[in-house]
Amino acid sequence: MTTTSTEETQSKKQKRGEMLAVCSAKGGIGRTSLTVNLAIALFKKNIKVSVLDGDFQFGDVGLAMDLQSTFTIKDVMEEIDKLDGYSLSNYLCKHDSGVKVLPAPDRPEYSELVTKEGLNRVIDLLLQQNDYLLVDTEVGLQEKTIDFLEKADQILLVTNLEIAALKNTKLMIETIDLLGFRDKLQLIINRSTMESVINAVEVSDILGINDPVYIPNDFQTASQALNLGIPFVINQGKTEIAKSVYKMAELLTSRRDISLFKPKGPSVFSKIFGFNRTKEGTKE
Ligand SMILES: Nc1ncnc2c1ncn2[C@@H]1O[C@H](COP(=O)(O)OP(=O)(O)O)[C@@H](O)[C@H]1O
Ligand SMILES: [Mg+2]
Repeated sequence: MTTTSTEETQSKKQKRGEMLAVCSAKGGIGRTSLTVNLAIALFKKNIKVSVLDGDFQFGDVGLAMDLQSTFTIKDVMEEIDKLDGYSLSNYLCKHDSGVKVLPAPDRPEYSELVTKEGLNRVIDLLLQQNDYLLVDTEVGLQEKTIDFLEKADQILLVTNLEIAALKNTKLMIETIDLLGFRDKLQLIINRSTMESVINAVEVSDILGINDPVYIPNDFQTASQALNLGIPFVINQGKTEIAKSVYKMAELLTSRRDISLFKPKGPSVFSKIFGFNRTKEGTKE
């Protein structure tokens, strides 16, 4: 049964996309693979998605999606004083899948042109225009990455089963904890079926984070996709690795539905009748 509760109407009015920051304590762990494939998997669910390449020195989202972009975030920063939603959309590069991307600058030295204020403005505009904004961040906890984590609704922290990755991920979780962002943390165990002295199911206990998402090991599919610039969810949809990304997209959207429909405070309805309505129209 469908209901149109007060909360539902209010949520629609205040529509703001959800920001997902994809980060890791070690490089080469699968942040970019996850970002581009998850973005496309979400878009296929009829959801508006943009990707911001937040690795301003060595970002390779453009390469991973084979984008022939004329503009990057450097161009946006040069126009930041006049920027509005309309002009920003002219700088975005539209991938064949439908996902829009704001690529990283062409050269590492241009990363300095990206200011915190400018970035905030860009993120706010992108969140107004999209249901999801995925940010592929630089490795570790650089200043800009901390800004991303602060602004993000969810932090997707990617690790694999290598001892060094786990050691550094643990340290990163401790810092994320100190920063007060633990509630937003979603652990992603990439290459979860790889051979290692650590079993994937042990990682959650080792790192003290529940309910991780597992992405299986498939180097051939993952590396071919990156090298060709064709994310594997597009043409390798039957592989386990692609299925796991689709499953993750499903998990994120179902969580989002729950939080969108969850009343923020007592609704007019609950004040009058003494209980809240859920999305399904039942009492709680
Ligand atoms: N699930 C996976 N299974 C096997 N190899 C993977 C997987 N995810 C990523 N890779 C490989 O790991 C390497 C690093 O991936 P990438 O997405 O560029 O990492 P990062 O952005 O963290 O540096 C690439 O060679 C990629 O093909
Ligand atoms: Mg990368």
